[in-house]
Amino acid sequence: MNNPTEILKQLMQSAAGQISTAATVADLEKIRVAVLGRKGELTVISKTLGTLAPEDRAEAGQLLNKAKATLEQSIDERKQALQSSESSQLLKAEWMDLTVPPSGISPGHIHPVTQVQDEIEQLFISMGFRVLDGPEVETEYYNFDALNIPPDHPARDMQDTFWLTDGHLLRTHTSPVQVRALQKFGAPIRMIAPGRVFRNEEVDASHEHTFYQVEGMMVDRDVSVGHLLHFMQTLLSSVFGRKVTVRLRPGYFPFVEPGFELDINCLICGGNGCAVCKQSGWVELLPCGLVHPNVLTNSGLDPQEWNGFAFGLGLTRLAMMRYAVDDIRLMQSGDLRFLNQF
Ligand code: FA5
Repeated sequence: MNNPTEILKQLMQSAAGQISTAATVADLEKIRVAVLGRKGELTVISKTLGTLAPEDRAEAGQLLNKAKATLEQSIDERKQALQSSESSQLLKAEWMDLTVPPSGISPGHIHPVTQVQDEIEQLFISMGFRVLDGPEVETEYYNFDALNIPPDHPARDMQDTFWLTDGHLLRTHTSPVQVRALQKFGAPIRMIAPGRVFRNEEVDASHEHTFYQVEGMMVDRDVSVGHLLHFMQTLLSSVFGRKVTVRLRPGYFPFVEPGFELDINCLICGGNGCAVCKQSGWVELLPCGLVHPNVLTNSGLDPQEWNGFAFGLGLTRLAMMRYAVDDIRLMQSGDLRFLNQF
C-alpha cells in the first residue's frame, strides 16, 4: 500500500468526506491546510512520486494534479455554502425591529393647555371658523388704538403692559388679531386666534404674567347676542363634556358694545370659594360682546352694513378648570411631576 497512486485515491476519499461534513468555514480551512497546504498530505505524496517507475510517474503526476484541482473546487463550493448559511444564521440571531420604541424612555406628550387649544380649534373649524395667528410683539395701534382705546383712555390701565424700548409692546390680549383679520380678509368672517399674551402684573394662583387666550370673532350681516350665546354654550359644553353653570353679567371693554363677562361656576371648589376663584365661587373666563362700530370702521367696514360678536377666552384658566388645577403657576412650571398627570 506504499503506492502513491493508491495513497492518493484513499486521500481523495477521506478528504471528500471531511469536506462535505465540515461544519464551519474555520473547520474547512483546517482541512484545506491539512490536505493542500505547503506541508499538507498532497505535498507529501508529490514528494514520493520520484520513487515510481518513469512510466508510472507521469500517470501519477496527472492524477495528483487532478486530485488537487478536484479538492480545491469542492473546498470552494463547501465554503460558499457554509458562508451563506453562517450569514443567514447571523442575520437571524442579530435581527432587531428598529420600529419598537425604546423602553424606559418617555416619549412625552402634549401640554394640557395645548390639548384644550387643539380641541377648541377642531370644534370651531367644524363650525366654519378659520384659525388665525397674530404677532406677540405688537404695535400700540393694533393693541389699543384700533380697538377703540385711545392713548388717554382709562381702559389702558386695565391691562398692565410690558412696553419695549422702541415703542412696541408685548400684546396684552389676542384682540389685536380682530382688526388684523378684518383688514386682511374683510367680511363676512368667522375666525379664532389662539395665542400667548403678556401682562405686567402680580402673579398669584389665578394670574400669570404670560398666559394664553383664544380670540373669537364672527362678523356678518345681522349677527346678534343670540349667536354669541349659542357659540359660547357650544364651546363650554364641548370642553367640559357636560353642562356647566354660567352667569352673564355686563362687562366693559371699549371694543364691544354691549359687553359681557361670562363667568363659570368654579370647578375647583364647586362654587364654595377657594384661592382660584378668590372665594367668590365664580371664575372669570369668557369676556365677550358685540363688536363696537368704531372697531369695524377702523378695520375698513361700514358698521351700517356689518356687525358681529367677539370673545376673548382665558385659555390657561379654562385648562385649569378642565383639569382641576388649583394654581395657574403650575402650568408653566415645567415640573414633570405635574405635567405627567395629563
Ligand atoms: C381681554 O383680554 C379682552 N381682550 C377680552 C375680550 C375679547 C372681550 C373680545 C370682549 C371681546 P380680560 O382682560 O378680561 O379681557 O382677559 C380675558 C380673559 O383672560 C380673562 O377672562 C381671564 O380668563 C384671562 N386672564 C386675564 N388676566 C389673566 C392673567 N393674569 N392670568 C391668567 N389669565 C388671565
